[in-house]
Amino acid sequence: MRTVSVVAQKGGTGKTTLCLAVACAAVRDGLAAVVVDLDPQATAASWGDRRDAELPVVVPAQPPRLARVLDAAAAQGVDLAVVDTAPRIEQGAIAAARAADLVLVPCRPAVYDLETVAATVDTIRAVAPDTSFLCVLNGVPPRGPRQPQARRLLADMGVPVCVASLGLRAAVDYAAAAGASAQEYEPRGKAAAEVAAVYDAARQAAGLSPGPAGDFHASGKAGLSTPRHDDRSISREGRLSTSPEGYSSTGRLPGLSATGKAELPASRRGGKSTRRKAGKSTGRPADVPARRRTRFDAGQVR
Ligand SMILES: Nc1ncnc2c1ncn2[C@@H]1O[C@H](COP(=O)(O)OP(=O)(O)O)[C@@H](O)[C@H]1O
Ligand SMILES: [Mg+2]
Repeated sequence: MRTVSVVAQKGGTGKTTLCLAVACAAVRDGLAAVVVDLDPQATAASWGDRRDAELPVVVPAQPPRLARVLDAAAAQGVDLAVVDTAPRIEQGAIAAARAADLVLVPCRPAVYDLETVAATVDTIRAVAPDTSFLCVLNGVPPRGPRQPQARRLLADMGVPVCVASLGLRAAVDYAAAAGASAQEYEPRGKAAAEVAAVYDAARQAAGLSPGPAGDFHASGKAGLSTPRHDDRSISREGRLSTSPEGYSSTGRLPGLSATGKAELPASRRGGKSTRRKAGKSTGRPADVPARRRTRFDAGQVR
């Protein structure tokens, strides 16, 4: 398992957005991904509540329990854990940086954000000197000199910057409201292609091999061909469901947040149909095909 932590001193830079985008892209890549939400505001966890699909599972956790949650995820066969953190570099961000194979630092190409990157990077270097980090420009305006200016400034600061960046896209906001990623919400959109490129760069920087759909991403067509991805998801499903110790039960990961043992929250015990009957908002991603949804039916996999 690889761990990618998303850390930034400033709020609103896109930590949660980037975290969820990377985790969802990993799922699209056919990998088992989990999001660990260390932010007391629980933005990622609330997104998970709005989400219809079971993966990536979002586990709210407190910083002192991060190591245990990650150990349990690794033991369950998770390929990628993405850790979301609160603004300000405090206990959670420090624990997340120390636990990570790669720290991503989202930054808007705006002076207030850029000014805080130095503090973020200094802290990462101090608390996790051996951990790689990468700044990801987020919310880049479609036109204008902001991106090249920001890249130059960050280069002058000696900060490594991800070759791919995320534009300022309405689809990102709509997707968040729907409990989806931009790739799911608008698979052929610009945001989807940008997320795929950022995911690919982050995956490589974290030392994570491509998933079963990896060649799909490598072809540069990620997010553009749902049917092919869906075929790969089915083969992934077969592998997962036959592994005795692996990520075979969607009920196991939610239990991580409480005890590290397999205990499905009552709200999920009846599977999707029960959740819908209970009036739970699903916010179903627009392009998640039915075959992919059914593999997360708790009744089938437990
Ligand atoms: N690339 C983007 N395009 C459009 N809106 C974005 C983008 N990135 C983030 N946002 C929006 O900006 C707000 C703050 O983002 P968020 O990820 O919650 O930041 P953080 O977790 O760092 O506080 C959210 O409303 C989010 O939807
Ligand atoms: Mg956040």
